[in-house]
Amino acid sequence: MAYETIIVEVEDHVALITLNRPDALNALNDQLLSELVKALEDAQNNDKVRCIVITGSEKAFAAGADIKMMSEKSFVDVFAGDLFGPEAEGIMRIRKPIIAAVSGYALGGGCELAMMCDFIICSDTAKFGQPEINLGVIAGMGGSQRLTRFIGKSKSMDMNLTGRFMDAEEAERSGLVSRVVPAKKLMEETMTAAQKIAEKSMIAVMAVKEAVNRSYEVPLREGLLFERRVFQSLFATEDQKEGMSAFAEKREAQFRDK
Ligand code: HXC
Repeated sequence: MAYETIIVEVEDHVALITLNRPDALNALNDQLLSELVKALEDAQNNDKVRCIVITGSEKAFAAGADIKMMSEKSFVDVFAGDLFGPEAEGIMRIRKPIIAAVSGYALGGGCELAMMCDFIICSDTAKFGQPEINLGVIAGMGGSQRLTRFIGKSKSMDMNLTGRFMDAEEAERSGLVSRVVPAKKLMEETMTAAQKIAEKSMIAVMAVKEAVNRSYEVPLREGLLFERRVFQSLFATEDQKEGMSAFAEKREAQFRDK
């Protein structure tokens, strides 16, 4: 399918989705978000795809939801139309791993989109923020919820109340991102990580995603039980037999997602 606001490339089992509204610093409008969800669903349904990467431009991952699109909307418009609700749900339904490769601004909905991915690798130029407070609103896709769980209440309050930006070094120190790399190496490092994931058993990969995400939803005891049962159930797969035999035989495992 031809997209106008994103570019999708599938290579070596990785779907690379590049947000592409350069004139608006990749601001998220209805079209971009629905194209993004469609591309993610296609990647989910494409057997060749084993990992997904979402990225933006060097200057901006995404500078937020499109303020010009939102400015004339009324409460009734956004409430009755559930602005950004179905798209956020659509992204959360994806079961394959998604890495955010962030360079430049990841603000508002852009920071929230990055946090909806499974982990974030950013360049040393990255700037994260929830500046919605400057517009007289608050975050609407996880900036007050996910960010608080990721970096703690004090820092989240600071970000959401002052609207200040956090640089890459602080983002790594705070646990928002998994790695910071030099800007020139961002895509190389991210694609290497994606390739590494693509080599694993897809069943185990999807199980990891579900188990780690579950840790944000349920009490520890429930989460531990869920993890143990999933761990045990993976012994029903051929990939578990292959992975453990390959170790014993000192060779690379050949996983078949079975
Ligand atoms: C619409 C945007 C935009 C946005 C930038 N642009 N951010 N358009 N929505 N969120 C547009 C600008 O209007 C401008 O277009 C062009 O992109 C370049 O931006 P500049 O401001 O000229 O660039 P610069 O001076 O380098 O400043 C970069 C910036 C600034 C610091 C990122 O653009 C900025 O503060 N943007 C808004 C950030 C923000 O408030 N995000 C939160 C949005 S609310 P023109 O045509 O004028 O040249 C949100 C709510 C989420 O995300 C809730 C649920 C999803």
